[in-house]
Amino acid sequence: MPLKEEIAKRRTFGIISHPDAGKTTLTEKLLLFGGAIQTAGAVKHNKIRKSATSDFMEIEKQRGISVATSVMGFEYAGYKINILDTPGHKDFAEDTYRTLTAVDSVILVIDCVKGVEEQTRKLMEVCRMRHTPVIVFINKLDREGRDPYDLLEEIDKELSIHTRPLSWPIGMGSEFKGVYNLYEKKLQLFFSADKQRIAEDVIAIDDLNDPALEKYVGESYANQLREDAHLIEGVFEPFDMTLYREGYLAPVFFGSAINNFGVRELLDTFVKIAPTPLPRQADTRAVNPEEEAFSGFIFKIHANLDPNHRDRIAFCRVCSGRFERNKFYHHVRLNKNLRFSSPTSFMGSSKSILDEAWPGDVIGLYDTGNFKIGDTMTEGENLQFKGIPSFSPEIFKELVNKDPFKTKQLEKGIRQLTDEGVAQLFIQQMGNRKIVGTVGELQFEVIQFRLSGEYGASCEFQPRDFYKACWFTSDNKEQHDKFIVVKGNNIAYDKENRPVYLAESAWMLQKAQESYPAIKFHFTSEFAEKESISH
Ligand code: G4P
Repeated sequence: MPLKEEIAKRRTFGIISHPDAGKTTLTEKLLLFGGAIQTAGAVKHNKIRKSATSDFMEIEKQRGISVATSVMGFEYAGYKINILDTPGHKDFAEDTYRTLTAVDSVILVIDCVKGVEEQTRKLMEVCRMRHTPVIVFINKLDREGRDPYDLLEEIDKELSIHTRPLSWPIGMGSEFKGVYNLYEKKLQLFFSADKQRIAEDVIAIDDLNDPALEKYVGESYANQLREDAHLIEGVFEPFDMTLYREGYLAPVFFGSAINNFGVRELLDTFVKIAPTPLPRQADTRAVNPEEEAFSGFIFKIHANLDPNHRDRIAFCRVCSGRFERNKFYHHVRLNKNLRFSSPTSFMGSSKSILDEAWPGDVIGLYDTGNFKIGDTMTEGENLQFKGIPSFSPEIFKELVNKDPFKTKQLEKGIRQLTDEGVAQLFIQQMGNRKIVGTVGELQFEVIQFRLSGEYGASCEFQPRDFYKACWFTSDNKEQHDKFIVVKGNNIAYDKENRPVYLAESAWMLQKAQESYPAIKFHFTSEFAEKESISH
């Protein structure tokens, strides 16, 4: 099949939510529709349990299993759908942010009882940075939730994205009757008794004044729906596909994932409106998916659970052209040609060797240490994809070697683990100290355990009280250099040798900004001028 057609049928997206809003449940229902799994519970089983906040052996076990759910591909109605799994656990937020660089759109799940929550805000910030198109699914309508208008207003305000309901709930909680699809003018009734049934009872009601509506939902709900629909059409602009595709407008659906309710219509609309694989910006030019030459980038690396086999799986998102097994490709950073004899695809819950892959697909490449997150592969052209930034960590600790005879192992281990993206490494200018930064405590346990198990090195961590790591730039060389000298104790270098300012507090950062107005500070390693921090 020609490249163009393969691209047209692909939808690569991620599902994001605050933990417990129903991401895993929704993922599972989508996979059921696609026939990728046969029973409910298959994905859920693989989930990193919430109780595992500090039980990291559990995480290690899950790490192995979660390779299978990292990418879930399936066919639905002639489309090839790739769901990229994003860990819900907040300690793995960095992993989630990076995965979001490899998707073309997202579905955001919100719990109708809780509304917008902390993790929702953070994830949406990342989406906004990249103008990722978002569809909102308001979940758990079988519970007594908040008023739908309030929820929409909250999303608008707190997530800075305009909303446009495409479906509307009729009742809620014990009185939940169903949803009316405003886009397709169809009524879907809710029967809570049969949880695993895929609701097929869709009734076309073109005109809400049709007396049949009373028959299905009763007089009071019928009148309420008429009023709501009237209000919505009056208040909201008609759904604008361009605004959605540019990330400014989020269509909203209501449903109940656990009851498999509202999921099919979400999926049906998703395949119609979600973008096909998009062009991607590289350092030298934009790369169009329709270009014949293959290109892709690594957004995730998964270590083998078995310490005797230190191979890893690098996840490569195909950006353009056709990838073929056993063909040589150019690893741009290493300026080296590599060939892959057993690249894997992820269809449903099984992995299999693939012969070819297309833009939007994710392939698993076995790696013995060649890859680092953000690496680009091409057919020879020297370009580097942008948009795979590091985000400022939130917890900082100094890595202290406990066994001087194993210094080399420790050096190698920490380099490799940070290449995998387990944490970020900063080398402090003064004293050459290694500062490890993460978004969660769990990573420190993981590092300690893996350094000892896989590299035979022994370490401990000493807390360092930093607030953020800020990358900084300036057109004023004098001020830039002076800042580095004056703030010597707080200057470190990241793995690409870019200077960062380790600010002790928001106040210190603000002071630094006031004292050095010609310096721009950034919370991510890749930035546009406008993204500098402002107070
Ligand atoms: P997450 O991945 O976003 O963390 O959420 P997950 O799907 O695990 O769902 C969190 C909890 O919410 C689960 O209950 C799940 O069954 C429940 N849930 C998901 N969708 C709905 C819904 O539409 N209505 C209702 N009432 N509940 C829903 P749990 O008790 O934590 O887990 P489990 O024992 O059911 O597995």
